[in-house]
Amino acid sequence: MRIGIVYTSVSGNTEELARLLHELLIEQKYRSQLMNITDFPVHELAEYDAIAIGTYTWGDGEIPIEMEPIYNEFKGLRDKKMVTAIFGTGDRFYPHYCGAVDTFKNALKTNTNLAVTLKVELLPQKQDLSKCKKFVELFTERIQTSLQ
Ligand SMILES: Cc1cc2nc3c(=O)[nH]c(=O)nc-3n(C[C@H](O)[C@H](O)[C@H](O)COP(=O)(O)O)c2cc1C
Repeated sequence: MRIGIVYTSVSGNTEELARLLHELLIEQKYRSQLMNITDFPVHELAEYDAIAIGTYTWGDGEIPIEMEPIYNEFKGLRDKKMVTAIFGTGDRFYPHYCGAVDTFKNALKTNTNLAVTLKVELLPQKQDLSKCKKFVELFTERIQTSLQ
């Protein structure tokens, strides 16, 4: 079972969220590889049984440029067995709050076994912990189901 968490982050909010989700997975006895997109070979995507993608939103609700290759890879992939999850941080100040999460969500829903979506405003706070735990619960439940 190969599980990955691949994220991008400029000012650290999404990285913090990715680290938190990684820790919560460890608490549930799931080992995952936590990787910045810059360290992730996109051609290896299909080798993962489960993958969680983390992204901030840029421009007018857009996915960051460094996430475009992995986004295009997902769009070209058809693997309904691959369990996926999408999380991200954004700012409600912008009209398309966490637009990049929504864009990934559409592609992952069509082409993979999308388990869960999570949006957090800026840096994760104490009050976000319950949604993060729920995220991990739904992700791991789907992984278990996919093994049966
Ligand atoms: C130029 C610019 C455009 C942004 N556009 C959006 C947006 O359209 N929607 C949104 O929810 N957040 C937007 N944001 C906010 C970032 O997504 C948010 O600060 C995020 O937490 C940054 O993540 P990071 O700390 O991981 O880099 C924008 C930020 C900047 C600087």
